[in-house]
Amino acid sequence: MTAIRRLWIAAVIIPLWGMSANRAAASPRAGQDAPIANPQAADVDQGKQTFETRCSTCHGLDGGGAMGPNIQAIPMRLGAPAVADVIKNGMSGGMPSFAGQLDASQIQQVIAYLLTLTHKDSGTVTGDAVKGKDVYDTSGCAACHIISGEGSGAGPELTKVGQLRGPGYLKTTLLYPGSDLPQARVFLETGGLLDYMFVHIVTKDGHTFDGTRVTEDSFRIVIKDVNGTFHSFQKSDLREFKKEPGKSVMPSYKGKLSDTQIDDLVAYLASLKGE
Ligand code: HEC
Ligand code: HEC
Repeated sequence: MTAIRRLWIAAVIIPLWGMSANRAAASPRAGQDAPIANPQAADVDQGKQTFETRCSTCHGLDGGGAMGPNIQAIPMRLGAPAVADVIKNGMSGGMPSFAGQLDASQIQQVIAYLLTLTHKDSGTVTGDAVKGKDVYDTSGCAACHIISGEGSGAGPELTKVGQLRGPGYLKTTLLYPGSDLPQARVFLETGGLLDYMFVHIVTKDGHTFDGTRVTEDSFRIVIKDVNGTFHSFQKSDLREFKKEPGKSVMPSYKGKLSDTQIDDLVAYLASLKGE
């Protein structure tokens, strides 16, 4: 039924693009940064290609969210200029800047494509967020995470995690923390989780430390262990110093929580969008 309806809509819209193509050729576009008022099928196609090569690793092949949030039809919510700005300049939570990689018209093509993706609000959230909060409260998560000021922080703050990450990524994190899936690698390259680089250290006098890197320069490294305690070292005092991007101080909850509990927890995390 919906498939037929979509086909029907496409049958009406595609010829309309065709007609506007002729008009667009006659009247030049207002400016490079202006949204494409009547996207042609070719623009949308080009936008789809750009999306699949540049954006889908983080936002999912259908834009439904993975490590990045669901961005289906987001220009509708934020407005095209705001979305163009995000693509051009990036955001602090892991969204890279595409300045110098995509020109203004390529960005507008991606936006035209995003508008064709119907927003599926729930993504793959299947659990119960209220039960998920109980799972969170009883599983010791707050020992390492802060939500709205509560908890402590060996791990990243989760107050807005539902806005920053898609449900698929949240589930993967709970089952395989720090996993070096392709998307996690892309993320590492962009700098995001470099903050939480897992470090293994053995000092020359024989003490072993595991934790996440806090700061590092040529001579010193500071790490934070599972208990949130900071340890500072002179590199010259170390016998072993290993960075292990695939590892995390966060334990895996695979087998410790049931599938239902994991799904509920994902629903709870996905609902955290900040104040
Ligand atoms: C390396 C992973 C990554 C890539 C590649 C990536 N994004 Fe993002 N994007 C993110 C993350 C993470 C966020 C969450 C916001 C943040 O960074 O604080 C985000 C946020 C956004 C937002 C804002 C969503 C909101 O609700 O405010 C838009 C729009 C967006 N991305 C579009 C794109 C487009 C278009 C591309 C491709 C040209 C792209 N992204 C490529 C990771 C990525
Ligand atoms: C011993 C400390 C520790 C515990 C306990 C812990 N975490 Fe984490 N968590 C971390 C660290 C460190 C990271 C960042 C590195 C990584 O992703 O592995 C992280 C990452 C995450 C992320 C990804 C955040 C992002 O922005 O990408 C989520 C979601 C998360 N944890 C949820 C949970 C939940 C839910 C629990 C309880 C069921 C939990 N964590 C228990 C330390 C912990």
